[in-house]
Amino acid sequence: MKETVVSGIRSTGKLHLGNYYGALSNFVKMQDEYNCFFFIADLHSLTTHPTPGDLSRTVREVVVEYLAAGINPETSTIYVQSDVPEVAELYLYLNMNAYLGELERATAFKDKVRSNPDNVNAGLLTYPVLMASDILLHHGTKVPVGKDQEQHLEMTRTFANRFNRLYNVEYFQEAMAFSYSNKLVKIPGLDGNGKMGKSNGDASCVYLSDAPEVIRKKVMRAVSDSGPTEMNQPKPEAIQNLFDLMKVVSTADTLSHFEDLYNNCAIRYGDFKKQLAEDMILATEPVRSRINDITNDDEYLKKVVRLGAEKASESARKTIQEVREIIGIKRLF
Ligand code: TRP
Repeated sequence: MKETVVSGIRSTGKLHLGNYYGALSNFVKMQDEYNCFFFIADLHSLTTHPTPGDLSRTVREVVVEYLAAGINPETSTIYVQSDVPEVAELYLYLNMNAYLGELERATAFKDKVRSNPDNVNAGLLTYPVLMASDILLHHGTKVPVGKDQEQHLEMTRTFANRFNRLYNVEYFQEAMAFSYSNKLVKIPGLDGNGKMGKSNGDASCVYLSDAPEVIRKKVMRAVSDSGPTEMNQPKPEAIQNLFDLMKVVSTADTLSHFEDLYNNCAIRYGDFKKQLAEDMILATEPVRSRINDITNDDEYLKKVVRLGAEKASESARKTIQEVREIIGIKRLF
């Protein structure tokens, strides 16, 4: 039997290079080898209260981008989280076994409290429980996620083990983070510091759907400095970030060419950025053209989403039935 893979991306807007190299490209590689469930985490995105219009638009964008990146809806299950309401029931059960102390200690929660002190809602606190429910609903054992999600996976294992112990069963398995390489790829933003992310603004992100002119403009405006003044001097963060991006989208020859120029104080950032932009455009071209092909294809998208909901529901219903039995929830008459 193939091992089960579960992963999701929150629907908070268009996907960027960070999502692509950090998550999507792994999803695509995994799909032939494993039984894969890839979903759009629209329920998770409710913690930040999107408008109804934004919510449905972003869900659609992520479905399109999953398909454009090369996920095959026949072999993998692509579904919208809210199309499978069983996850909310499992979330309720697991919440009875999740403790305030451990939830408050989660790094992602603490970060959110710090950055958004006026929106510390219970959904945010129990975000890891919903995430555990996503995974356990399908008995996922491999979860392709970035480094920032490892703690959430550890909590998933805690909740699963606690459930097993409480009911004296060996029902849920342990889910492990998965990545093809042991060093997680770093996709920095164009704004000089930190990782590529929507919260750092549109100018720092290269979206998969960005047109070539847009990519050129963003890269040319990326933060840099006045250039190296000493041979082989260490690179400041903003410059290292651009090299890190080049490492991902360009050939090894191109990268070492510009490394040499930098080390000899002969680099011209204009040329460097031009090359980086062209290589980004090339690297994203297949995805971008598929996005354009399917983005308005209602018939196709409807078929994909319905098929996915059907397959995911089948797996979810079975789990919920078994969980109810284990807990002792049954109709009296
Ligand atoms: N928390 C993940 C993120 O922010 C998204 C997510 C929700 C997820 N549920 C999941 C990832 C289940 C893997 C498995 O990136």
